[in-house]
Amino acid sequence: MHLPDYLEARTRDKRSYNRIHFQLDDSIEKKYTGKKYFVKTYGCQMNEHDSENICAMLEAMGFSPVDDYLDADLVLLNTCSIRENAHNKAFGMLGRLKHLKVQKKDLIIGLCGCMAQEKSVCDEILKDYKFVNFVLGTHNLYQLPEIIDKAVEEDKQQIEVFSREGDLVEGLPVIRANSCKAYVNIIYGCDKFCTYCIVPYTRGRERSRKKEDILEEVKELIKDGYKEVTLLGQNVNAYGKDLYEDYNMGDLLEDIAKLDIPRIRFMTSHPWDFTDKMIEVIGKYPNIMPSVHLPVQSGSSRILKLMGRRYTRESYLELFHKIKDTVPGVCISTDIIVGFPGEEEEDFLETMSLVEECQFDNAFTFIFSQREGTPACKLKDNTTLKEKEDRLQRLNEVVNRIFLEKNKQLEGKVLKVLVEGTSEKKDMYFGYSETNKLINFTSEKDLLCGDIVSVEITSAKTWSLDGKCV
Ligand code: SAH
Ligand code: SF4
Ligand code: F3S
Repeated sequence: MHLPDYLEARTRDKRSYNRIHFQLDDSIEKKYTGKKYFVKTYGCQMNEHDSENICAMLEAMGFSPVDDYLDADLVLLNTCSIRENAHNKAFGMLGRLKHLKVQKKDLIIGLCGCMAQEKSVCDEILKDYKFVNFVLGTHNLYQLPEIIDKAVEEDKQQIEVFSREGDLVEGLPVIRANSCKAYVNIIYGCDKFCTYCIVPYTRGRERSRKKEDILEEVKELIKDGYKEVTLLGQNVNAYGKDLYEDYNMGDLLEDIAKLDIPRIRFMTSHPWDFTDKMIEVIGKYPNIMPSVHLPVQSGSSRILKLMGRRYTRESYLELFHKIKDTVPGVCISTDIIVGFPGEEEEDFLETMSLVEECQFDNAFTFIFSQREGTPACKLKDNTTLKEKEDRLQRLNEVVNRIFLEKNKQLEGKVLKVLVEGTSEKKDMYFGYSETNKLINFTSEKDLLCGDIVSVEITSAKTWSLDGKCV
């Protein structure tokens, strides 16, 4: 058994990593043929992509997927720790699984992802959730097959969570959820330590994949017919810093843009490492989508300082306008936290005025959530939850009004859309524009997932656009 420890998880040093190649043990390959699995994914794109690796590892073991967890022989929760409600949802699901296990004694239940890295979660599982067969951390996800097998063979709870990042694993199998768009990890971990955030503890130090491995993966995806790649990292702008003297995110973007892939996206960018070279490259290559997610978190320099974000309101705005001025037609989206400890009404009003100035195309807004072990957890907080909810509501009214106004400006315009499929009602197709707007549209011609078509926008809603293929 290995339990995580925050003090260790916080450590950063310059040691180098072994790069190992995933290999499934012959003795486990197809051993579980006939058994069914269900993976429930919480959290960010990183987790979604990890789940694509998880599914492929499980299928290599012989498991096949089911749509309803009630039909599964193995249920795995790939969890997220970012806010309390993500945490509560996973524990709610564990509660339901407890009941299921009463009827299905052989059900295998596992938990992995960011919550596994929290010592309090592991302690709770050890004490009160004895029916959970295994817990696996983010740093050793590649050991999933052997840990499942061990849990089954020994019939004993397995908790294998390492506090420190280990080897960098290449060659994990993958079953992609989408057949025309793919996620590609470029950097793992985060060294920013924003004071509210748990990710640097759950995902470890920033570690870049080698550029050759990334380029190879993108070339394979092109061969397989993928039309869009999203380069993933908690902070993609830090790409290369731990690995190369003079090769960074701007260079990587440029090298990928020179490949024959129609659409490149990347996320997330911390404003801190956003270089002029990156902005120039994004503006120069038409296959790098003019869509940047640039989380601001707050419009008050005082709060930004308390958050440890390393930029001020003014320097954020300077970067924002530089990107807008250099990349034609770029859309910028953001994340905002309200109710950070010590946020006064006047700080909040600064966030509101920044939102009015930036006119974001999309914004994910959250109420601050205390994460155990982070520095912000110890800050004095005099604002009531009711006041915070009120701020969130006022903010949402403004951002939603702006989304609708910006979408209205697109009525009558023709946008390029990557077709993903038919919408729930089946009478419409859906896909995303270059600027990452969701578009539902009709077409007289039959279209396939992966087609890139021109769509005239007929009507705008707050979160989507309707149109017709022209
Ligand atoms: N690496 C990304 C953020 C990943 S987390 C970045 O820095 O841009 C996604 C968003 O969750 C953050 O941008 C932040 O707005 C929000 N978030 C993170 N920790 C939070 C917390 N403790 N409470 C509320 N929101 C939080
Ligand atoms: Fe969290 Fe900040 Fe790292 Fe983003 S940059 S993952 S908010 S610590
Ligand atoms: Fe959540 Fe971990 Fe992603 S905390 S947001 S799943 S990196």
